[in-house]
Amino acid sequence: MITVAIVGPGRVGTLLGVAVARAGWRLVAVAGGQDAARAALCRTVAGARPYPTAVEAAAQAELTLLCVPDDALERVASDLASAGAVGEHDRVVHLAGSQGLAPLHRVGLTGAGIAACHPAMTVPQGAEDPELLVGVAWAVTASEHDRGWAEELVTTLGGDPHRVPEDARGLYHAGLTVGANAVGAATATARRLLLAARIDRPEAFLAPLIEASVANVLTRGAQALTGPIVRGDTTTIATHLARIGEDFPELLPAYRALARATLAPVRVTLEPATVARLDELLADPEA
Ligand SMILES: NC(=O)c1ccc[n+]([C@@H]2O[C@H](COP(=O)([O-])OP(=O)(O)OC[C@H]3O[C@@H](n4cnc5c(N)ncnc54)[C@H](OP(=O)(O)O)[C@@H]3O)[C@@H](O)[C@H]2O)c1
Repeated sequence: MITVAIVGPGRVGTLLGVAVARAGWRLVAVAGGQDAARAALCRTVAGARPYPTAVEAAAQAELTLLCVPDDALERVASDLASAGAVGEHDRVVHLAGSQGLAPLHRVGLTGAGIAACHPAMTVPQGAEDPELLVGVAWAVTASEHDRGWAEELVTTLGGDPHRVPEDARGLYHAGLTVGANAVGAATATARRLLLAARIDRPEAFLAPLIEASVANVLTRGAQALTGPIVRGDTTTIATHLARIGEDFPELLPAYRALARATLAPVRVTLEPATVARLDELLADPEA
């Protein structure tokens, strides 16, 4: 049975601690974060013990999962290497989406196996149900030597591993961030406009519309886009800008930026005069 240490018992660390134990591996050590967070995870998973430092926790386990903020990763990993907490019989994984193996470089020099494994799922505070990870796509960056066990870690947690090369991690994570966070921000903006239009339950309008348009674009790409930009209805866009400008001038930059993103893939399909008028309407007045 593989022994596991979690460093960083936050959103992802807590969920993974529960998930590895549920999968039949042995969570033996938890380090990093607040005392209360370490204690909470150790209460949830029988046999897990809190340790004051990542170095002490990693020394107890064959597999160490670094679930710390991205900016702390390299320092924590380097500490493990310089303290001799990990070596050729150990494996160290980090969960950061935007980074590949670089932050684990010093750990790799000790002979330990290293991998960057990122679940494409949002993990909120307090999530403890490993079902959240079932069926999720994971980006795995690992050398040929380490790929086998890294992909096995993902499948053990119910995930679907995909190879992502080191130099593609930045674009990979930018894509996920736009997909998750920008879509959420656009939805929040839409909701605010509908509430201002005296629609009591914006979700009644938005949920089916958003679900259908996202599903269409996911399968067919930008050619599935619809709406006034795609049709070249410049008067409609001018009306939106005027009304938003009256009631919510602070939302105009977001509306214009989202409309420009809609225009970009369809501009070749529109008349040049229509594109010129849209460019004029959607230009940032501050620029
Ligand atoms: N949440 C998600 O949806 C999600 C999804 C996929 C991947 N990830 C990745 O998972 C990793 C963790 O993200 P998260 O959302 O779980 O963050 P989080 O909730 O902020 O948890 C981070 C944990 O690490 C602790 N920590 C901070 N600095 C540390 C250090 N220097 N040494 C040891 N522990 C330290 C934090 O303690 P304090 O609370 O005291 O700061 C906290 O317990 C990140 O690399 C992130 O990119 C997150």
